[in-house]
Amino acid sequence: INNGLGLTPQMGWNSWNYYACDINETVIMNTALAMSKNGMAAAGYKYVNIDDCWALERASNGTVIPDPKAFPNGIKYVADYIHSLGLLIGIYTDAGLYTCQKRPGSYGFEEIDAITYAEWGIDYLKEDWCYSFLENPQERYQIMSNSLNATGRQIFFSLCDWGTDNPWTFGGAIANSWRTTPDIKDNWDSMMANLMAQASISSYSGVGGWNDPDMLEVGNGGMTNTEYISHFSLWSILNAPLIAGNNLIDIDQETLSILTATEVIAVNQDPLGVQGALVKSYNGGLQQIWAKPMADGSRAVVLFNTDTNPATITLNWADIWVAPVTQQLVVRDLWQQSNLGTFATTFVSEVIPPHGCVMLKLTPATN
Ligand code: GLA
Repeated sequence: INNGLGLTPQMGWNSWNYYACDINETVIMNTALAMSKNGMAAAGYKYVNIDDCWALERASNGTVIPDPKAFPNGIKYVADYIHSLGLLIGIYTDAGLYTCQKRPGSYGFEEIDAITYAEWGIDYLKEDWCYSFLENPQERYQIMSNSLNATGRQIFFSLCDWGTDNPWTFGGAIANSWRTTPDIKDNWDSMMANLMAQASISSYSGVGGWNDPDMLEVGNGGMTNTEYISHFSLWSILNAPLIAGNNLIDIDQETLSILTATEVIAVNQDPLGVQGALVKSYNGGLQQIWAKPMADGSRAVVLFNTDTNPATITLNWADIWVAPVTQQLVVRDLWQQSNLGTFATTFVSEVIPPHGCVMLKLTPATN
């Protein structure tokens, strides 16, 4: 969609993965404050997104009313505070009659809701797909897209039909991102399932509209830090939205260092906007190479060991669109933030631990 937003994948935080329905203005505002101070805002995270359970009911004129227990001062109050920190605010609704947690949905109220959000100062809307019955998602989401556009406020629009209706085929005309999978869970198998679903749809993603394999689970405790580093590396190379889903008020140093890895994030935010592809698999997919071309002519690469045994992975220049393959490339490790040397034709990784990865940038050597 040509609304001037999503020129790179959106970065921010969302309440659902950690807090689910247990949200209130204090949690949201303290999260925003933490994000503004702990290095995340500086690393590029800017949206603070309230997910399901903020809405209670509709007034007789149709206006949506926030839950007064959780948001006693209303949403505009929270929005003003988030804006005062230099951050942006997102909110959540549903294209059907109800949200997934049975709160009011926007079906038939798209126009009035869009106007309400704009009045509150909302910068981002996620629209879910529960209780939508036999509606056509393209048509229904188009109504909200038009309504947001008509407000004159720039509002990032994020679709969430869990990939059920191939949203990548129509999402680009309507929205800035679209979920491609069922909900992520904080475990390895769920993360892997959502990852592998991206391999066949990479070409649909690009500047202004991104495939969304769901929010990050980094820091939520169900995976090891090695696994979270893989999760974050892969979401980065996929040009996935980087929406943290953990507790930012009480965050440990290791989690923070994963979420703020500057050179990894730079791959995600590269202006060329080409989604990373699965370019090579070894041993039936136990070892994988994901790669993307970057705006400066370099290549970003994730060498990913999905096995439960350690492994080395060989990267061939021919697999990452480098010609001639005899070209000298400087290989940089983006997690270590150090150059590993200059190589031609192939690079063989160090031993990669189970479920671990190495993330590289390969740049033509200037002699
Ligand atoms: C759906 C969405 C999730 C979350 C919940 C909230 O499951 O896919 O991301 O928004 O609803 O109820």
